[in-house]
Amino acid sequence: MDDCTQGSRPNAHATTDFTCYANNQHRRGAARAWVLLCCCLLLGWVQAWASKHPDPEPFVDPTAGSTYVGAETCKSCHAELYDKSFAATPHAALLKEGKHGCEDCHGAGSAHVEGGGDVTKIIIFSKLSAAQASQRCMRCHQSNEENSDFAESMHLSQGVGCLSCHSPHHAGGPEFLLIKRQPLLCYGCHAQQKAEFARPYRHRVDVGLIKCSDCHNPHGSFRDHQLRESAGGMEVCTKCHSEKMGPFVFEHMPVKQDGCTSCHTPHGSTNPRLLRVSNINIMCLQCHTLDLTDNHFTPPERNFHNQNTQFQACTMCHTQIHGSNFNEFFFK
Ligand code: HEC
Ligand code: HEC
Ligand code: HEC
Ligand code: HEC
Ligand code: HEC
Ligand code: HEC
Ligand code: HEC
Ligand code: HEC
Ligand code: HEC
Ligand code: HEC
Repeated sequence: MDDCTQGSRPNAHATTDFTCYANNQHRRGAARAWVLLCCCLLLGWVQAWASKHPDPEPFVDPTAGSTYVGAETCKSCHAELYDKSFAATPHAALLKEGKHGCEDCHGAGSAHVEGGGDVTKIIIFSKLSAAQASQRCMRCHQSNEENSDFAESMHLSQGVGCLSCHSPHHAGGPEFLLIKRQPLLCYGCHAQQKAEFARPYRHRVDVGLIKCSDCHNPHGSFRDHQLRESAGGMEVCTKCHSEKMGPFVFEHMPVKQDGCTSCHTPHGSTNPRLLRVSNINIMCLQCHTLDLTDNHFTPPERNFHNQNTQFQACTMCHTQIHGSNFNEFFFK
């Protein structure tokens, strides 16, 4: 029996040319249907993506052509806001040294004032995208090293702008014009980390012993996870735990090579000492394999680990597990 076409699957039931032809037609039809379906799915996906990522509307400055009238003029109509939500904030500094105050952020106000408060002639932040609003803030804050990576940050790329965390007029606390204090501010969006910091062993961010921003820069950094220092290394940890930094005469290789987070989790853990593994021995044995026939660890050939001792916590004897200046086996 001939195949219908080269490369097609032999069809045991195709006894006549007709069935062969019909099968081919059927296959071509099916192939077309598949192509069509794929196109539709692709189109649908592209449309869904596009609707989630609309072209950013270009910023049209409604105050272009206006001139500066000064904060005292703004105050004449917005007295309550001026007194309660501006005068005592750090931005009152904008009234000094030739700055304009309100208009540094909201744009020049002459047309707004002449229009008796024409809202189409003043910059209103709630009408701006996260990127547009942030850009206005960055005109002054870009030069601050703390903020300088914001434009490339994961936060801004996900639509989290300055005003997701800060409010110039309605801050929720005394510090840094934040909407809420840490960690509540961060927990609002980071539920997984909230759960991690609720574990029995954790860095005590809840009582302010340590802050998210001690390890992360919420304004972005050029390191993974917006960390202030590299995580693979150990700088992010040793700025507080400097005694673990060394250098030691006898280094424990993984501390220096793989960093603190190879054995510890940074946020919280169900295991004491923030360890990744619940049983210390099992953790050690992930790297140090015990040869059960003669109770030696590889590498070197030694015989101090018999069946009786192997289930004691390794760190009972090897106490200086981060490195030692006195003993190559990390004893006291
Ligand atoms: C003649 C009175 C008057 C003066 C002077 C004035 N405004 Fe207004 N402003 C208004 C009125 C009225 C509104 C609309 C009602 C409202 O939202 O408070 C308004 C609205 C605004 C809004 C929009 C509020 C919103 O989000 O709905 C901003 C921002 C604003 N003014 C800023 C300024 C600034 C900055 C100055 C100084 C350059 C200024 N205004 C001077 C009367 C005035
Ligand atoms: C540092 C930038 C900045 C300065 C300076 C500033 N504003 Fe605002 N203004 C904002 C932002 C951002 C908002 C949106 C609300 C928020 O996040 O606090 C806003 C909101 C407003 C609103 C809307 C009502 C409200 O309470 O939210 C008015 C009216 C207003 N500003 C007027 C003024 C006046 C008047 C001054 C000067 C006394 C001033 N602003 C100074 C950034 C600024
Ligand atoms: C015209 C310049 C200018 C613009 C625009 C501006 N700021 Fe500021 N900002 C300042 C100055 C000046 C200070 C006070 C700095 C100081 O006290 O050392 C300040 C302080 C701050 C602080 C620190 C408060 C603290 O407690 O240390 C935050 C947060 C802040 N601004 C956020 C914003 C946000 C958000 C925007 C945009 C809505 C913005 N700024 C727009 C000039 C500006
Ligand atoms: C994801 C939340 C978040 C976003 C987004 C954010 N900030 Fe902050 N910002 C913070 C926190 C938290 C602090 C306090 C940091 C600390 O405790 O050291 C802070 C501190 C600051 C300070 C004072 C810090 C210093 O050392 O000078 C300024 C100024 C500031 N932010 C401006 C901005 C500006 C401008 C933007 C937008 C371009 C922005 N922030 C976006 C959370 C945020
Ligand atoms: C002791 C330093 C430290 C503190 C404090 C800290 N983090 Fe982290 N965080 C890290 C490190 C290191 C990583 C990298 C992940 C890893 O190596 O396991 C990370 C990762 C993350 C990630 C990326 C996802 C993930 O879990 O891997 C998010 C989001 C995050 N942290 C948010 C927070 C928030 C929110 C807070 C405060 C409530 C916070 N972090 C406090 C060190 C810290
Ligand atoms: C308005 C919501 C919002 C707030 C508030 C917020 N974040 Fe985020 N954050 C996000 C989003 C969205 C991302 C992007 C990816 C994700 O979901 O982890 C992100 C990413 C991060 C990352 C990088 C995660 C990674 O895998 O690299 C860190 C670290 C982080 N945030 C820390 C913080 C800290 C610290 C605070 C408080 C000062 C904070 N965030 C406040 C929404 C927020
Ligand atoms: C800003 C300072 C700071 C930084 C940065 C920091 N820690 Fe800590 N760490 C502390 C403090 C304070 C304690 C004590 C906590 C307590 O008593 O609740 C602690 C406790 C610990 C503990 C002991 C927990 C226990 O059960 O005894 C471990 C393990 C630890 N940190 C690991 C790390 C690692 C890993 C990093 C880096 C990812 C890190 N730390 C970064 C301040 C810091
Ligand atoms: C090879 C795994 C390993 C690495 C890597 C490691 N640790 Fe540890 N760490 C441990 C073990 C195991 C304990 C628990 C010791 C005990 O219970 O006696 C511990 C305990 C701790 C403690 C609490 C007890 C104490 O001695 O203060 C801190 C803090 C700590 N480590 C910080 C760090 C820091 C910071 C780094 C990175 C410089 C780091 N660790 C790297 C295994 C490790
Ligand atoms: C991530 C892998 C890793 C983990 C986990 C680990 N180690 Fe190590 N350890 C090493 C390496 C690599 C060396 C260096 C081996 C060498 O020099 O030949 C070493 C060296 C040692 C030495 C010195 C050996 C010698 O011959 O000088 C001792 C003792 C030791 N580790 C004990 C432990 C104990 C106890 C634990 C658990 C708390 C542990 N190690 C966890 C990788 C690890
Ligand atoms: C009762 C104390 C004790 C306990 C518990 C203990 N060790 Fe040891 N370990 C020693 C002694 C003693 C030496 C040899 C020191 C010497 O040669 O001077 C040693 C040497 C080592 C060495 C390097 C030499 C070799 O045998 O290869 C490693 C790696 C090691 N131990 C890992 C571990 C691990 C992993 C555990 C937990 C499963 C552990 N030890 C538990 C006492 C102990």
